[in-house]
Amino acid sequence: MNKASAKIVSPNSSIQPVTAVRNLLNHLTIGKLDCVDLVQKYGSPLWIIDEETVHQSIQSCLAGLSQYPNSQLIYAGKAFLCTAICKLLQNYNIGLDVVSYGELFTAQTADFAPDKIYFHGNNKSPAEINLALDYGCVNFIVDNESELSTIIDLAKTKNIKANLMLRVTPDIETQTHEYIKTGHKSSKFGLSVNQIINLANKIAALDLNFLGLHVHLGSQSTKLKPYLDSVSVIAHLAKVLKLQYGLNTNQVNLGGGVGIKYNDNDNPIPLYKWSKSLALELKTQFELQALPKPKLILEPGRAIIGTAGVTIYTIGHNKVLDNGIEYISIDGGLADNPRPAMYQAKYTAELANRINAANKTVTIVGKYCESGDVLIKDINLEAKTGDLLVVYGTGAYNYTMSSNYNRTPRPACILVKDGKAEPIIKAETYHDLISHDNIPNWLE
Ligand code: LLP
Repeated sequence: MNKASAKIVSPNSSIQPVTAVRNLLNHLTIGKLDCVDLVQKYGSPLWIIDEETVHQSIQSCLAGLSQYPNSQLIYAGKAFLCTAICKLLQNYNIGLDVVSYGELFTAQTADFAPDKIYFHGNNKSPAEINLALDYGCVNFIVDNESELSTIIDLAKTKNIKANLMLRVTPDIETQTHEYIKTGHKSSKFGLSVNQIINLANKIAALDLNFLGLHVHLGSQSTKLKPYLDSVSVIAHLAKVLKLQYGLNTNQVNLGGGVGIKYNDNDNPIPLYKWSKSLALELKTQFELQALPKPKLILEPGRAIIGTAGVTIYTIGHNKVLDNGIEYISIDGGLADNPRPAMYQAKYTAELANRINAANKTVTIVGKYCESGDVLIKDINLEAKTGDLLVVYGTGAYNYTMSSNYNRTPRPACILVKDGKAEPIIKAETYHDLISHDNIPNWLE
């Protein structure tokens, strides 16, 4: 590592947010604020997002990209999105990957520059396409031929030339949970290299702005090699598109998916190393094909926001079964974090209100009516009712995948920075829960 890179912090390589420290009371502090006080003020459970960690993650990724003059970092909103996050991204001139009407609507509400928005997804509805077209020059990442026709038809009725990239499924496996792989042959996303070549004539003949190619291999990926292989697939395809169909690949979006450290045994690629390696590989591969260097776009989500987030829960009841298993219950679980149940995701946790002497193994369970509502199996923890548990690495795919299961309002999500805290998503109330209920008149 040279001197310059030694200074670059890649928060995705740490379990805790970068500002996490214990104070004299042994309470965990984040963003210079005592988590015990934060829970008293904003309630439990509580999501906390540390702005400094987001900042350092962005800087780390941008530092790697600085090797490549023409690049754009965009953030995958599916990891965690609200209007405040849109504003935060705008401060860094970062773009946004959206996949739904709701995400685009959120961006629009925050006045996000449309030319920095990339619209993904395998089944964009006419309403979603119209919203994007009406908002301005949003870029579409086209997933399939039928979607392409719908975008072209709708754009024509508005006299707009749509900006399009094609999503390539490169037939590359990445080492991650089966449910979050996307680059393999039978993925529901994108088109194979052959399908794209077969579509090239049509693209060349249509009245549209063809921007280039997109690829995304999967999420929580920990190996660099599949990424590098995907760059070579893209460069070869770009060559064919150019030589045989006169199509210029001016932009290459290499997706996101870089993993974060949830546990001591996770070894993610540091963000800086990831973005730098992809930048260098893109340069090499396009030079090899004697093609001009395209604009490079990267779109991580989890690695920008994941480590920045923690969830604080309050410990409730505990019990020891006849067979010796000890269950400790918390006041949240599956509804605010479905990832352990969905992907067998493993998290690191400890007490936030004291340093615990951990000499026994327990299982932390949520309060929801599901046997699968197990937050952490076999953790060393001594905890009593009223203690606060902090779970690390919950910034990504927790709030966005949360539900109101068992009619539970979602907790607040607060942003902390330098001793300041403010909700970026307010806690839901019980009135919110019933606000969409309707009693048909024949039941009155
Ligand atoms: N680009 C595309 C096209 C994607 O589909 C995704 C994630 C990303 C970028 C961002 O990936 P990230 O950098 O955040 O890994 N719910 C799952 C993750 C689903 C990811 C979906 N696509 C989980 O909780 O692990």
